[in-house]
Amino acid sequence: MCASPVTTVALSIAMVLFGSISLLGGKILPNPLNTPDATGVLSTYSTAGGIDISNPFFQNLGTNGRTCNTCHISSSAWTITPADVQAKFAATQGTEPIFRTNDGSNCPSADVSTVSARRQAYSQLLRKALIRVSVQVPANAKFQIIDIQDPYNCPETTATNPALYRRPLPVANLGFLSTIMWDGRETVFGAIPKKSIDLVQSLRNQATHATTGHAQGVPPSPEQVSQIVAFETGLYTAQIKDQLAGDLTARGATGGPVNLSQQNFFVGINDSLGGDPSGNTFTPRVFNLYNAWKNLTGSPYRQSVARGEDLFNTLPIPITGVAGLNDALGQQVIMGTCTTCHDSPNAGNHSFSVPLAIGTTAYPAMPALDVAGLPVYTVQCIATGERVRVTDIGRALISGNCEDVGKLKGPVLRALTARAPYFHNGGAATLGDAVEFYNQRFSLSLTAQQKADLVAFLQSL
Ligand code: HEC
Ligand code: HEC
Repeated sequence: MCASPVTTVALSIAMVLFGSISLLGGKILPNPLNTPDATGVLSTYSTAGGIDISNPFFQNLGTNGRTCNTCHISSSAWTITPADVQAKFAATQGTEPIFRTNDGSNCPSADVSTVSARRQAYSQLLRKALIRVSVQVPANAKFQIIDIQDPYNCPETTATNPALYRRPLPVANLGFLSTIMWDGRETVFGAIPKKSIDLVQSLRNQATHATTGHAQGVPPSPEQVSQIVAFETGLYTAQIKDQLAGDLTARGATGGPVNLSQQNFFVGINDSLGGDPSGNTFTPRVFNLYNAWKNLTGSPYRQSVARGEDLFNTLPIPITGVAGLNDALGQQVIMGTCTTCHDSPNAGNHSFSVPLAIGTTAYPAMPALDVAGLPVYTVQCIATGERVRVTDIGRALISGNCEDVGKLKGPVLRALTARAPYFHNGGAATLGDAVEFYNQRFSLSLTAQQKADLVAFLQSL
């Protein structure tokens, strides 16, 4: 951190990410921090009084030049997008620290000796901003991987060490989490297992593993870990302005990150599965940000956003074949809504630690999803001999259980427009594709107007 070349690189990256004005007069960025995105303006509000870029989150704590900020960028809702990655590649010919073979390339032993070799080696990162996550099959697993169709013929991708290609999750709005990581592997449960989590301890472990893994370093000091966790848990991010709807806090609307920072949450706050420790009953009316726009005359687009919110809360969905839901409740068809799974008030993640297999890992994939370039695993359950083909094994790699194959968490649905593509593997290129996935998966027969309303709503989150 003291050598001048490193400082220059860090500074120039900071200038690219935040613009030069933000560095005037110190290391605290404006609060809230507003940045343009595809459909308007994204805003991040820090309850810690500002985004302090001297926090260890922005420091090189490992050995490969990476920081947390390498993969979690404010203007992309604290994840990364293909555009971010492509800009880094163009600026450095594929040598910026995100381009490291430990988990940035399709295969750790890929040839990265020339620019064109790097373009190929990092193709999943460049196309969909996917990181290679390798999780060992647990020793006691009740399943086996019996076949791998690997487009990269990667020697490091094996039946005991499969590779999953996943989108970085946003490092903001963390206070709403009921589980950490797509497969929940960093979740430390609290006093009542599954019904409470120790968020701070979960995030401490996560930050340590991110430094030893992604950044190939020694574990950060307890003080550095505390600073990272304090920094990230203070961040709230959401869309604040839409090109067509305008200010998302106008005329009674309650969008944006400042309102979000005041939203109450606890694990199971609105549990659709009926396990709420406090005895709360479930309400499908999960989002109420744009209720006030329902009857606004002269603002057709604002009404579309409000209709989309209504559809999200109330559109009947015959939910079938979702492992973790239909099997858990013993019901072949559950008449639900989007909010059966996205049930945390105004945050939209699953309020309970219940990973679900909704069909995004299934192979062949729904036509709305693009899974080209992902390895396909044939997983066989030892007890029953039953086989499934999937592009991500999900929670089963943590639990070892057959019934957990393909299960992933329902993520927070805020600040979506700044962070395409969607789902754990970036399979949906746009929010329209994500809506189309549900249309196909649950045979919804949505009209063009309903799809447009849902997209207008999702873009305003
Ligand atoms: C090389 C890219 C990369 C770097 C560097 C990186 N992350 Fe991540 N981060 C990811 C990916 C990919 C995931 C999701 C992986 C999964 O779920 O399997 C993730 C997930 C997370 C999550 C989980 C959020 C949730 O909703 O569960 C947190 C928190 C996080 N990262 C914080 C950090 C911190 C803190 C650092 C620095 C110490 C860091 N990350 C460095 C790629 C990165
Ligand atoms: C049966 C449970 C369930 C239902 C019903 C459901 N979702 Fe999801 N949703 C999930 C899960 C689980 C994920 C994560 C899946 C993945 O990443 O592969 C997800 C992910 C998403 C994402 C991507 C978020 C991101 O960060 O990439 C969007 C957008 C979304 N859902 C919107 C909707 C909409 C709109 C509806 C209603 C039409 C809906 N969901 C209904 C469980 C559900």
